[in-house]
Amino acid sequence: MGLKIVKGMRDLQGEEIEPFQLIEAKAREIFALYNFQEIRTPILEQTELFARGVGEETDIVGKEMYLLEDRRGQSLAMRPEGTASVVRSVITNNLMQQNKLLRYFYFGPMFRFERPQKGRYRQFYQIGVEYFGVSTPDADLEMILMLKHLFREINLQKVSFQINSIGCQAEECRPAYKVKLQEFLQGVKEDLCENCIRRIDTNPLRVLDCKVPKCSQLTNDAPRIDESLCGDCDEHYKELQSLLKEHKVEYSVNSKLVRGLDYYSRTVFEVYSDGLGAQNAAGGGGRFDGLFQVYDADPVPSIGFALGLDRLAMLIDVPEKKEQGIFVVGHDRTIVGKIVASCREAGFSCMYDPFLSSMKSQFRQANRLKVKKVLILGGDELKNNTLSVKDMASSQQTTINREDLVQHLNESKE
Ligand code: HAM
Repeated sequence: MGLKIVKGMRDLQGEEIEPFQLIEAKAREIFALYNFQEIRTPILEQTELFARGVGEETDIVGKEMYLLEDRRGQSLAMRPEGTASVVRSVITNNLMQQNKLLRYFYFGPMFRFERPQKGRYRQFYQIGVEYFGVSTPDADLEMILMLKHLFREINLQKVSFQINSIGCQAEECRPAYKVKLQEFLQGVKEDLCENCIRRIDTNPLRVLDCKVPKCSQLTNDAPRIDESLCGDCDEHYKELQSLLKEHKVEYSVNSKLVRGLDYYSRTVFEVYSDGLGAQNAAGGGGRFDGLFQVYDADPVPSIGFALGLDRLAMLIDVPEKKEQGIFVVGHDRTIVGKIVASCREAGFSCMYDPFLSSMKSQFRQANRLKVKKVLILGGDELKNNTLSVKDMASSQQTTINREDLVQHLNESKE
């Protein structure tokens, strides 16, 4: 059997991994400004966690989860998303008992058995945020402001926000809307795609964001959920919009935006960027005020989002690396080794050629690594206990005593 990588998965290294590192580093900075703490949850969870939380009728749970049975026959899923896991962690660790507010972020791989294409993988990476404890729309606003801030930091161009409210579980809100929508969909049933015909009964809201052009066109005339909200949901949505305007956030209302996970209530949003095409969102999120109750826990108002790191990485430019570090050139393995070790101990990134090839070849390697300084240990230097230090930008060379190296490096540090 020839070795090959699993379909829809990829190895990341070299230049490809640089935008990932840059975005993660910037995200950490921004999350610290907004006082979010990191959380790491396991990749494996009980299958039931996602079945109940994300919803049996969703594509994610119904068609896309990687499932396995452990040696005791327990059904486990490789997490397709992070929200259910974080909520599980809050519940099983009793975290809300100790805190009124919880603000978490996470980075990590997620797994969905989707048809692979550009920007869509079976193992992909998310940056996610979950905020627990606040029911008022300033939490919704904070999410969107933080996203905008992050996009500005990573220089992501042409970003647009779409928002909607999908109401709550109160009888006169989403349940009443569902009935209205089902009546409408029954009327156009013959022209809907096969999936949507099934969804009329199982998950009618999902028909609204079906990507099949016929369905999408038909539902343009469907009753709008944002015009069917109960009083409290309507007030929440209006207040959020006035806050967004107050903070000069540009957004568009998309009354057909429902998201592909069942746990949402009230505010939902998605972020698009020109480079990805209309079908691929850079990220999405929303409120999930009802999710704790799905797991029989006390209710906690909650909101969050996740960004597709693979997709963001396609869109951003990584600035060219500045010259940095040191390369030691020489042929005396022991002394080269000692110089390298003392540079590193003193906090300077340092490399050498373990094959100790020709001087010319070692200089070539130093150039390729774009180092700032080359330390040369030639015949004269060996004899005199010295080192020549070549500054690569100016090509200037000075000779120093070997024992003064660290002092010299510290003094010439910028
Ligand atoms: P989601 O919309 O399913 O939401 O995923 C969030 C983002 O992950 C998407 O907008 C997309 O950029 C990226 N993504 C999803 N699937 C793939 C894939 N197969 N390949 C590459 N990127 C992908 C959630 O997962 C929710 N947990 C977000 C959330 C957090 N809501 C509240 N809190």
